[in-house]
Amino acid sequence: MKQGNGDRSAERADALDTAYWDGVAQRLAQRGHYMDAFVGELKIRAYLALLERWEWRADGPQLKTDLFEESTGVDALLWRMPAGSVRVGMDLAPSAVASAARKDPRGDLACMVADARQLPLASDSLAFALSPSTLDHFEIDQDLQVSLRELHRVLRPGGKLVITLANRSNMGDPLLRLAVRLGLAPYFIGTRYTAAELRQELETAEFCVLDQTAIVHHPRLMATAMAQIGRLIRWKPLLMAMQRLLLSMQRLESTRWRYATGCFVAALAEKPAGSSLDGQA
Ligand SMILES: C[S@@+](CC[C@H](N)C(=O)[O-])C[C@H]1O[C@@H](n2cnc3c(N)ncnc32)[C@H](O)[C@@H]1O
Repeated sequence: MKQGNGDRSAERADALDTAYWDGVAQRLAQRGHYMDAFVGELKIRAYLALLERWEWRADGPQLKTDLFEESTGVDALLWRMPAGSVRVGMDLAPSAVASAARKDPRGDLACMVADARQLPLASDSLAFALSPSTLDHFEIDQDLQVSLRELHRVLRPGGKLVITLANRSNMGDPLLRLAVRLGLAPYFIGTRYTAAELRQELETAEFCVLDQTAIVHHPRLMATAMAQIGRLIRWKPLLMAMQRLLLSMQRLESTRWRYATGCFVAALAEKPAGSSLDGQA
């Protein structure tokens, strides 16, 4: 299930992945999200702050590499992002794409079912791409590099990529790994990455890394527990105390412990002009 699983045919893998992620999207739509509205808002604000700091501009075609958040609606980031001239949203799961398209408040999102490992987009066509923890759900580690090279291909020279991946340096990572192994996580989470590993993967794909950080500084399991408690107990003072705690934890990003507490490692990367991988992926 990890590296070196080279005998898997690409068509078979795509079919399995599509059905799997479609099932995840449908299950969440039926049973409700594991995240509550407050935690969803925290996550949206973490991404918006990152995009603002990294000067995400609305002056060119932009892509978001999955529509999970927009399909569930709890942490729908795309609707709050600066809209570019053309906005493209994609996901491997057809039901996630359909649900996001239905919920699009402006009705101008170009939605498509697509695989990040084989983007149906022209080379050098995008100004920006946001990949929010999409590329850390692969069964095969090498698929991260395949996807990064695809993103590199479709970005124009000078185009920017903002990417986050599950953070292996997070102190709760062993617990998360155990939850995945025991089938307690809401979906499959693949390899997690340190900031240095993310940088290396980006540089191997010929990106230039401009900045890095870690975002979302409360334990993932705590956020899930909060949603459950909110549903069961409904005692407002307790909920408000938990919300204050979660909010104050976000300040950890400006400390030297950010990589121990952040759920996601984040990077701002640029496709340099005249990069050698253009058109090769
Ligand atoms: C579980 S979600 C997590 C990502 C979400 N942005 C978040 O941070 O909560 C993973 C999403 O990526 C999509 N996905 C998985 N593999 C993909 C691929 N190869 N290409 C495009 N989307 C993919 C899934 O359908 C799902 O919507």
